[in-house]
Amino acid sequence: MIVPENHPSGADLPLDLNSVRQRLVAQRLGSEFHYFAEIGSTNTYARRLAEHGARDGELVIADSQTEGRGRLGRHWVSPPNANLYLSFVLRPRLPPARAPQITLMAAVALAETLKFFLPVPPSIKWPNDIIVNGKKLAGILTEVSCGSESVEFVILGIGVNVNYPVDLMPEEIRQRATSVLVERQNKVSREDLLQRLIQDLDRCYGEIEENGFAPMAPRWEAYFGWRGQRVRIELLNQDVFGIAKGIDHDGALLLEDEHGKLQRVIAGDVTPVSQ
Ligand code: BTN
Repeated sequence: MIVPENHPSGADLPLDLNSVRQRLVAQRLGSEFHYFAEIGSTNTYARRLAEHGARDGELVIADSQTEGRGRLGRHWVSPPNANLYLSFVLRPRLPPARAPQITLMAAVALAETLKFFLPVPPSIKWPNDIIVNGKKLAGILTEVSCGSESVEFVILGIGVNVNYPVDLMPEEIRQRATSVLVERQNKVSREDLLQRLIQDLDRCYGEIEENGFAPMAPRWEAYFGWRGQRVRIELLNQDVFGIAKGIDHDGALLLEDEHGKLQRVIAGDVTPVSQ
């Protein structure tokens, strides 16, 4: 590979997407790549593509984002050439009620990919954070556009901290974020991780379209770190406490309240609390 002059030896290079495309074995995902050295947000761009008729599986990927978006209106820190920032346009053949299953499926695929690169298996923090050693390594932002009868499109956005050293993380995330590099103490090829991730997502996407989420639910549950633990859910204007019991078929968190009654929680942030 020719090293560009502005990338002194040892610095991270831009993604080599040709090597990914040449090796990729996928049915639908990654049918087309839209690459940007820098973009505002891959999710925002993918939505625009979808509104203009982009096909199922088209991928928007960038080496950095200036306005990376996280869940609940948060910012996603997206420095250049170290991590993965990608968004798929999906057109699943699912009724709107089953759209949340896309996020659960993506969390399973992402956990399965990352397990291959990490010394310890990751866990899923409901609804869709990937956690390693108590710190966040990857996140998923799904945005759905529905007609009355069917899902029009889903934008599946994924951010993975790959070769991101702690000392380069901004102060506001340093205590709670990690990366593949931090966990395994050496760099990994972003191309290898990306190729595997696209293939795992492609396989899992096919599985839920064909069989629904139920057969995949035990895999999600196996990565769910806090079953049986007392947790706090931060909702917009109140905190709710209970015992995390798992998820139901549409991805809601099942929380047992102090009267032993099961509550369904559909949004919020979960933190374990001491019993
Ligand atoms: C979260 O809050 O955990 C979700 C983070 C999702 C970040 C990814 S990076 C690629 C895509 N583009 C965005 O603007 N956000 C998602």
